[in-house]
Amino acid sequence: MPPTVTTVTLDVARYRPEQESEPTVQSYEVPFRKDWVVLDALNYVKDQLDGSLSFRWSCRMGVCGSCGMTVNGQPRLTCAAFLSAEPSGPIRVEPLRYFPVVRDLVVDITDFMRKLKKVKPWIVRNEEKPLAEGEYRQTPDQLDAYKQFSMCINCLLCYSACPIYGLEPSFIGPAAIALAQRYNMDSRDEGARERLQILSEHDGMWQCTFVGECTKACPKHVDPAGAIQQYKLTSAAHWFKTLLPWGMK
Ligand code: FES
Repeated sequence: MPPTVTTVTLDVARYRPEQESEPTVQSYEVPFRKDWVVLDALNYVKDQLDGSLSFRWSCRMGVCGSCGMTVNGQPRLTCAAFLSAEPSGPIRVEPLRYFPVVRDLVVDITDFMRKLKKVKPWIVRNEEKPLAEGEYRQTPDQLDAYKQFSMCINCLLCYSACPIYGLEPSFIGPAAIALAQRYNMDSRDEGARERLQILSEHDGMWQCTFVGECTKACPKHVDPAGAIQQYKLTSAAHWFKTLLPWGMK
């Protein structure tokens, strides 16, 4: 019978800018429990071994999107990465790739927040109807049209998985495009043309070569790669119409 595993080693990336110019790796021995996820192990380190370790988390249930890190080389939600599902040997925990590291496992997401705002991820109306006329109603089919894209939790795993974003940080990126699509497909929204203009700019969707890694990394099955391809088709159709004598202005 193989010996029962009682502990596991976490090899954790550390970066304390006040004392190091480069990230280093620190190893911690933590209890191995079947029901523990990597986030539990990090919290054990923080509470029992080394209170100086910094990382983000909040809900512990795959909703807030704040616990994204690179686990054994893959972008993952640490609250959904079970220790028991990792290959035997030390578990490597690093910050999300392609984002500047603020401290240890905490990355700076300013770039994403700026890009997200650019695509107007809210319902745009040319004119609001008076409150007295009641709410905007939708059929189940109208809801289904955008529901998948509305599941995005802004965890940024898709950016960390995207080789285009890694090479060209001006790329607006998978989640921002998926969220643009979430509102474009909402029957209450009238901002699609504005968003199309924004995304058609040089740092928009044309840089995506449909590698599909973003969709594989998404813990919520949002399919950002599908959103990007849909958007490319819409944009091409729009461009074609503008060439016609009776085309759109
Ligand atoms: S802690 Fe909220 S998604 Fe992981």
